[in-house]
Amino acid sequence: MLSHQAPADTIREWLANAVSIAALTGAGISAESGIPTFRGPGGLWRTYRAEDLATPQAFARDPQLSWEWYNWRRGIIATAEPNAGHVALAELERRLSHFTLLTQNVDGLHDRAGSRRILKVHGDIWTLRCTVCTRAWRDARPSLPVLPPKCACGAMARPGVVWFGEGLPEDVWSAAVEAARAAQVLLVIGTSALVYPAAGLVQLAQSAGAKVVEINVAETPVSAMVDLSWRASATAALPQLIPPA
Ligand code: OAD
Repeated sequence: MLSHQAPADTIREWLANAVSIAALTGAGISAESGIPTFRGPGGLWRTYRAEDLATPQAFARDPQLSWEWYNWRRGIIATAEPNAGHVALAELERRLSHFTLLTQNVDGLHDRAGSRRILKVHGDIWTLRCTVCTRAWRDARPSLPVLPPKCACGAMARPGVVWFGEGLPEDVWSAAVEAARAAQVLLVIGTSALVYPAAGLVQLAQSAGAKVVEINVAETPVSAMVDLSWRASATAALPQLIPPA
């Protein structure tokens, strides 16, 4: 898009004129909090194979190994703090009655920054779910002392996240689709936009008429199709759009 305006000015204008706004975040928004992304430099999938750790088959084969990996990630996330990007999105929610945060992240940093209307399409690492009775509960201990953890019913628990090859939680996903369709502006922050169906929310919002803004340090498959692609980090960009209260 050709414009004489700085990206921040254009986006601020779009935000100011919109009643309904949504944001879709990915691992990049937590990168500056010290949490590794999946695919960039230092990304988890550059060192570990998802097929060994994050699929139903991997868990069935070796639940101990899969749990050790999630327990290690819990430890990293527990020492991280929400950054200015998370805080700006929480502030945006406070200012608007129609704002929905759609996140692929399982780290819980949006909650800790103060966001409340969050649709976690890939689940939450701080939730455990029984593999038999399907009861779900929260356990925020940075490190679980016994692996694999057990449900009160005695069966093995699994991490409350979505694995490759699994469907997304239906109620969360339909609410995410609804929010993407209703948005007049969609901010797409720190995601490689490679993992579907979450990445499909970008096109869905745009075909439903939203102005789509990408904030990412690198180009992605959606950079060319969005209305404005801003090459900036989450902590540099978001506080310019939503100044602290
Ligand atoms: P990726 O690791 O695939 O992509 C992270 C994106 O963030 C990249 O496009 C980076 O360029 C960008 N990025 C890095 N640092 C940034 C910063 N400081 N500011 C802005 N952008 C930055 O992570 P996701 O797109 O979240 O799924 O990955 C999607 C899904 O793949 C994850 O939810 C996870 C993973 O496998 C499941 O676990 C089911």
